Amino acid sequence: MTADAASALAVMLAVGLAIAAAFGGYFFGRDSKHAKATPATVAATATVNPEVAAGAHVFVQFACSQCHGPQGRGGISPDVPDLARSATTLSATTLRSIIDHGLGESKNPTKPYMPVWGAVISNQQVTELVAYIHAGLPVVATATPPQVPTGQGLAVAGSVLYVRDGCINCHGPNGLGGVPNPLSADKTIPVLSGLDFRHQFNTEAKIEAVIRSGSVIGKAPIVSMPHWGGIISRHDLQALVAYLDTLK
Ligand code: HEC
Ligand code: HEC
Repeated sequence: MTADAASALAVMLAVGLAIAAAFGGYFFGRDSKHAKATPATVAATATVNPEVAAGAHVFVQFACSQCHGPQGRGGISPDVPDLARSATTLSATTLRSIIDHGLGESKNPTKPYMPVWGAVISNQQVTELVAYIHAGLPVVATATPPQVPTGQGLAVAGSVLYVRDGCINCHGPNGLGGVPNPLSADKTIPVLSGLDFRHQFNTEAKIEAVIRSGSVIGKAPIVSMPHWGGIISRHDLQALVAYLDTLK
């Protein structure tokens, strides 16, 4: 056999194997759909509606899961509802309005409220969130918050918390800002770095206090700083402050 003939044979074999694997996968896939499966195994094998999948990722990216619990199942704070129980029956219009405009008592600094997301989350992403909530907030593979490392120091933990708790969506990477807040006085969500920030927030206690109690700078659709007291632990607040201390 020439070298050419041998490689042609190899290609044919490979194609044959690929076809066999595809058929095998097809039948296996059908079988596993009929099997009784836990939500986790469904997520690993079944195809998820792309809009619902996108909604699951948006739900994690904007830290909805940090206040409402994984898959919105609650258990974080008595002030934050279990969405699987309360929200799946709300109309798309109601859900969109709650997400865009927030909900609850924003003026009480000791309690969390539903933040105002209208200026931060796109219409498309809100549509995806609504699809995800209406689908019953299923488990979707890899739509999970990043793991916070332990034993590597507070600032390292804080850098991951900055992403996991969604600070980055409003304050930008490295606290550099750049996210518009059109109806607020300075038209933008503030930076968390630089001389002005360091000057105004010149102690760790002041930074910790504003993360815990937030700040209401006006009515929706103005975006205010959410209240994280009762949501983010004391240890994690200190880690966030340690991380902010490392910025420019
Ligand atoms: C800082 C904590 C926090 C974050 C982050 C948060 N929520 Fe909420 N959310 C709340 C609180 C508190 C309420 C209850 C408000 C009330 O009724 O007083 C709420 C209420 C809701 C409701 C209404 C539920 C009902 O049955 O009335 C929906 C829907 C909702 N949130 C969706 C979301 C989505 C989607 C995200 C992510 C984009 C999100 N939330 C992020 C705190 C939060
Ligand atoms: C929904 C958008 C949003 C999210 C999410 C958010 N913030 Fe804010 N944050 C704001 C806004 C708006 C202000 C400005 C409030 C004001 O001017 O009174 C602010 C103010 C602050 C301030 C004070 C800075 C200043 O100049 O007023 C700190 C510190 C801060 N945020 C830290 C954080 C941290 C840490 C997180 C994550 C745990 C976070 N923020 C998440 C919107 C957000």
